[in-house]
Amino acid sequence: MNTKKTNYYSNLAALVYNESKPPGTSIDGDIEFYTNELIKRNGLVLEAGVGNGRMAIPLLRKGISIFALDNSSEMLEIYNRNLKKYNMQSDSMHADLKDFKVNIKFETIIMPNGSFCLIDRNDILNVLNNFKNHLEDNGKVYIDLIFPTSFKPGNVHEFDFLIDDDYVKIKNKSISMNWIEQKTYTELEYKKNTTTEIQHFSLWWYGVEEFKNILMNSGFKDIHIIENYNNIKNLNLKTLTFIFGK
Ligand SMILES: C[S@@+](CC[C@H](N)C(=O)[O-])C[C@H]1O[C@@H](n2cnc3c(N)ncnc32)[C@H](O)[C@@H]1O
Repeated sequence: MNTKKTNYYSNLAALVYNESKPPGTSIDGDIEFYTNELIKRNGLVLEAGVGNGRMAIPLLRKGISIFALDNSSEMLEIYNRNLKKYNMQSDSMHADLKDFKVNIKFETIIMPNGSFCLIDRNDILNVLNNFKNHLEDNGKVYIDLIFPTSFKPGNVHEFDFLIDDDYVKIKNKSISMNWIEQKTYTELEYKKNTTTEIQHFSLWWYGVEEFKNILMNSGFKDIHIIENYNNIKNLNLKTLTFIFGK
């Protein structure tokens, strides 16, 4: 059995992510939103937590330059495979957001699809500070925050995917909602043949004023908030995109 640290995307978790959300899969219109925003801006974009390139590959195809960073070597391997498949190029880096160092200042840093909620609350100030250090003076950061509006402790959801001629069976167990620490805990079990992988999955959430204060105390300014990627047809609040500079 393969069990790594909280929120880590190991082999099966990364394969399933790629199978369920291949490059170009828009989540609630996020790819369209980011394409429209980034096409107006020049310069290099850091995608923090690039995953399989679900968002990065369509952005690259629109001529937007992406520098990809992820702490999962398994995800980056899939990203590099997808780059080849779509005949695209981007630099990538295997590193953790809380302490990565690269001698580049980015025009834009994006962290779509709630990836920021995967960061342990104790690490977010280091991550934000690191973003500030790697941002051009006139640069902008985009962070999506998601809210656990449909999380129900006790729910178990089972599904499977046929990947490379073998079924990967997934059991998604919603375990607990911690209102004090503002986090949900889900256990994901992936089984393929004799291999079992467990992903301990915690998502932290933040109040709007709370997150604004965190950003301001971290030295950021000009904070704007977009609801559900401007999609007015989506009546329930699911995603807030915080856009800010330094
Ligand atoms: C939910 S996936 C999103 C992938 C991609 N951005 C997308 O929109 O489809 C989150 C990604 O963030 C990466 N990640 C999570 N915590 C990280 C950290 N502390 N440092 C670097 N990458 C991280 C994970 O490995 C994973 O690939």
